[in-house]
Amino acid sequence: MLKLTDLNATYGEGMILRKVNLEALKGKVTCLVGRNGAGKTTTMRAIMGLISTPNGNIKLDNKSIIKLPTYERVKCGIGYVPQGREIFPQLTVEENLLLGLEAKNGKGVIPDSIYETFPILKEFLHRKGDALSGGQQQQLAIARAILANPKVLILDEPTEGIQPSIIQEIGRVITKLKSDMAVLIVEQYLEFVLEIADYCYIMENGRITIEGEPDNLDHDALQATMSL
Ligand SMILES: Nc1ncnc2c1ncn2[C@@H]1O[C@H](COP(=O)(O)OP(=O)(O)OP(=O)(O)O)[C@@H](O)[C@H]1O
Ligand SMILES: [Mg+2]
Repeated sequence: MLKLTDLNATYGEGMILRKVNLEALKGKVTCLVGRNGAGKTTTMRAIMGLISTPNGNIKLDNKSIIKLPTYERVKCGIGYVPQGREIFPQLTVEENLLLGLEAKNGKGVIPDSIYETFPILKEFLHRKGDALSGGQQQQLAIARAILANPKVLILDEPTEGIQPSIIQEIGRVITKLKSDMAVLIVEQYLEFVLEIADYCYIMENGRITIEGEPDNLDHDALQATMSL
């Protein structure tokens, strides 16, 4: 589905990612883990075409997308929920959702399945985005990305600053979504990762240093990587 090979990425002069190899497959939740500043968000921004990637390749369904601008990558089927969510605070829940539909193919009707997945959005349909809690905003951001019907859904730290009951809820939704798409998640909350991930990559200083299925990873080494 989505495949990064030997990908380098730079901010100005500084090389941040070094030869990153990573794959996200349909039917699987793939997690990219690492401590602050490791390069996780940079990896997601590179996938979206938001920063320079001078070497390496990014393929979606075996076709290179590395030369495409961001909006084309979205059209090809990559849904992105950035770190910090970035919903539109002055628009209502409904308006935010409609923008998700438009990202794919213009106008449309929000399907009921979205409200079945996130009942809270139906309840607050006419509330403005900034009148939602952090967890509700995260649910709105995920719902908006799903409405564009992506092949790959990218979530950057979906649990950041969110209370445990909503984290559980988001975990359930992600596990359900993977039957229709590849899900690629950046996370620092290890307990959550070990619960939902089918495959993990650990990043340190812009490189992947450990990878594997959660059951096969050395959890002590993982913990040590995170707390250095
Ligand atoms: N706009 C930028 N310009 C220059 N350097 C940047 C920029 N954004 C991030 N960096 C640097 O790139 C490195 C990786 O940052 P990145 O945001 O990818 O980390 P992260 O793993 O997502 O961390 P966190 O867990 O804190 O979100 C850091 O050293 C950071 O200082
Ligand atoms: Mg980040």
